[in-house]
Amino acid sequence: MGFKVRKYYCQLPSTANNCQLKHMNKIALFTSGGDAPGMNACIRAIVRTASYHGKEVMGIMRGFQGMIDGEFIAMDSNSVSNIIQRGGTILKSARSKEFMEYEGRKKAFENIRKNGIEGIVAIGGDGTFTGAKIFQEEFNIPMIGVPGTIDNDLFGTDSTIGYDTALNTVVSAVDKIRDTADAHDRLFLVEVMGRDAGFIALRSGIGVGAEAILIPETKTYMDELLAKLERNWQNKKRSSIIVVAEGDDAGGAYEIERQINAKFNRYETKVSVLGHVQRGGAPQPTTGFWPVNWARGQWRHCCKEKVM
Ligand code: F6P
Repeated sequence: MGFKVRKYYCQLPSTANNCQLKHMNKIALFTSGGDAPGMNACIRAIVRTASYHGKEVMGIMRGFQGMIDGEFIAMDSNSVSNIIQRGGTILKSARSKEFMEYEGRKKAFENIRKNGIEGIVAIGGDGTFTGAKIFQEEFNIPMIGVPGTIDNDLFGTDSTIGYDTALNTVVSAVDKIRDTADAHDRLFLVEVMGRDAGFIALRSGIGVGAEAILIPETKTYMDELLAKLERNWQNKKRSSIIVVAEGDDAGGAYEIERQINAKFNRYETKVSVLGHVQRGGAPQPTTGFWPVNWARGQWRHCCKEKVM
């Protein structure tokens, strides 16, 4: 592959890194944006590590929206039992329009102050980090960001919580699609998530041996794609898989199918949009391991303390 997939999105400076965490009595955490398998494991790791160190922990329901609406719950070790293996997020998630306005953020900060919260851990993706960065700068509240998104489009980490699980979901779905594609001699366009980023498409596409992988980071040249399909046809290849990221510049899988069929009618084509199935399910063991390690490491880094 002669190109790089970009990772340029917002980096949340971890303002709670300077040993502040050690002196805080009460912290809060929330999940926000698109949920990702492994967020629950992360919640558990943070709550248990903080509790072990004698901190009071509050969960904020529905991300930034819950912060505005005052949806705070007390959490302890017991409240995070039996969630490490569950997809979704027990703290729920939302994308808050109100938080994009200063008035909304002000309301949120008043609730943070009212609840005596001294620092916040935000688990989420690009939008979450952008909001958190603005919030900490405006109100001088220390925050730590934990990268949680299936899209993997965050700076400063090789892998985000949920990415690995989503990849496994895609690969296992495409393997099944390949069986029926082969049985009927069809060309399948499989659309995977990634509005702005092609990580899921790229990795899964390589993993399943896709004929072509179309991602937002690179221009899609339809002529090249059609020429390749023609060559394959001449070589007696009768079924193929093309993986398309939903945000590809040439359009989603349906649009690409339309463009293929307009100029090349040898294959019978089908589209399969995998959609939100990629966001669900139990996290892969590596995903569960990651947040536990993160919480322990973060604490060690911030407090230079021995962690259980
Ligand atoms: O940010 C993660 C993500 O799954 C993207 O890949 C996708 O484009 C988007 O969320 C879908 O969001 P929603 O579930 O709000 O429609």
